[in-house]
Amino acid sequence: GSDQLIDLILRLFVEPSDEVINCAPSFEMFRFGTELCGASLVEVPRDENYAVSVKAVKAAISSKTKIIFLANPNNPTGTVMPQPDILEMLDTGLPVVVDEAYYEFSGETVLPQIGQYRNLMVLRTFSKWAGLAGLRIGYGIFPPEIAGYLMRIKPPYNVSAAALVAVRESLKDIDYLMDRVKAIVAERERLFSELKKLKWLKPFPSQANFILCSVLSGQASELQQKLQKKGILTRYFDRPMLRNSIRFSVGKPEHTDTLIKALREIGGQGNA
Ligand SMILES: Cc1ncc(COP(=O)(O)O)c(C=O)c1O
Repeated sequence: GSDQLIDLILRLFVEPSDEVINCAPSFEMFRFGTELCGASLVEVPRDENYAVSVKAVKAAISSKTKIIFLANPNNPTGTVMPQPDILEMLDTGLPVVVDEAYYEFSGETVLPQIGQYRNLMVLRTFSKWAGLAGLRIGYGIFPPEIAGYLMRIKPPYNVSAAALVAVRESLKDIDYLMDRVKAIVAERERLFSELKKLKWLKPFPSQANFILCSVLSGQASELQQKLQKKGILTRYFDRPMLRNSIRFSVGKPEHTDTLIKALREIGGQGNA
């Protein structure tokens, strides 16, 4: 998967005691890979709407900084950074990894810039839009120089035959899969407007296939448990820079209806 590319990129650029910049909160594999290299993750906090400040990212750069990571759209917030801001980060000259795992749900990409910047790396995956997460298949688009080094450190048998067959079939079926993406995007907007009606949740606008909500009354962990008892699996977060929050994946219309009904029942009991 693209997880492995994150790992390979870190191994290529980072040595113990180096620093890696992360626009937090974000995907936890950036931390995992960085710490595995013995480096430190320098977390630049996003603002109250989970937007990244380029100024803050630039201020966090030191002589030890080796990579800047940006998940765009971001996981778990669904936020997108405007393209001019990403280009400003690239103008620092530092290697910038733009992880576009959720690109298909947002339509925004810096890929056309790849020829202009020798420090831009773009990651994509078949895990989300094509639903192949279990087969672990992702890809990256790199300047040739970096691609050459990555190929030299890549384990030779890292992609299975099953994954390759699934990729080929997905590409044959791309119209159907992209129609499903369109349906998910439409459903995301409906789920967002339904969540907004619940006064005890604060959903954040998302460009991905999930919606993050701040839980304004009660504990996100308890809410996750109550939903689980009703057969609805969600993910809650309660860590620095991501307090008391819950993330809902976007499903079919009937899944939205079931979730909203369950949330109303839980909220109606006054113990949301
Ligand atoms: C931002 C981001 N990048 C990468 C991945 C992992 O993708 P893959 O399944 O291709 O390893 C995820 C999955 O959750 C993600 O959210």
